[in-house]
Amino acid sequence: MAQRSPVRMERTDFKQALNDVLFLLREELQSRDLQVVTDLMPEPVDILGDRTRLQQVLLNLIMMNSAEATPRGAEAVVTVRCRQVPKGEVEVSVSDTGRGIPPEQLERVFEPFYTTKSDGIGMGLSICRSIVEAHGARIWATTNHSRGNSFTFTLSQFKDAAVDP
Ligand SMILES: Nc1ncnc2c1ncn2[C@@H]1O[C@H](COP(=O)(O)OP(=O)(O)OP(=O)(O)O)[C@@H](O)[C@H]1O
Ligand SMILES: [Mg+2]
Repeated sequence: MAQRSPVRMERTDFKQALNDVLFLLREELQSRDLQVVTDLMPEPVDILGDRTRLQQVLLNLIMMNSAEATPRGAEAVVTVRCRQVPKGEVEVSVSDTGRGIPPEQLERVFEPFYTTKSDGIGMGLSICRSIVEAHGARIWATTNHSRGNSFTFTLSQFKDAAVDP
């Protein structure tokens, strides 16, 4: 994940990329009794970006962090949302119902080597942020209303110059 090669800004079907990640994770999610709910806009989500790197971001947010922070049980749900926002962007968020991050640490969690886990390196979110920023976009963490956190990032929508002058 720490490769330094430039991101490939290509037309990418984001829904397909997400579904592929969820398919890959299905057994692990099942074994953890964790449900992933998707709440995506009905239109196709064609974005401009690096499919593989964005899948690394999703994998990290969904499995490595949210699943780890979420206790097993009926409410063990991770929600992935995708919605259109102004300026030709889409906003993707991964929300969990886990133990949560103290509000004063919401920015620190992105720092390299910041970890609260005995076996953690503290690189996951730092790498997510580098990947998202290499796309010219932003990623941030918020506290959910009820329980847990959301990690939200933006992506540029792909615009077909031939169709959309
Ligand atoms: N979904 C989450 N819920 C609660 N705390 C989280 C969540 N995601 C990240 N954190 C907190 O942020 C810290 C940093 O996360 P990050 O992914 O960068 O590193 P890590 O998971 O500790 O180690 P690794 O390098 O293995 O990813 C975590 O140790 C944890 O305290
Ligand atoms: Mg991590």
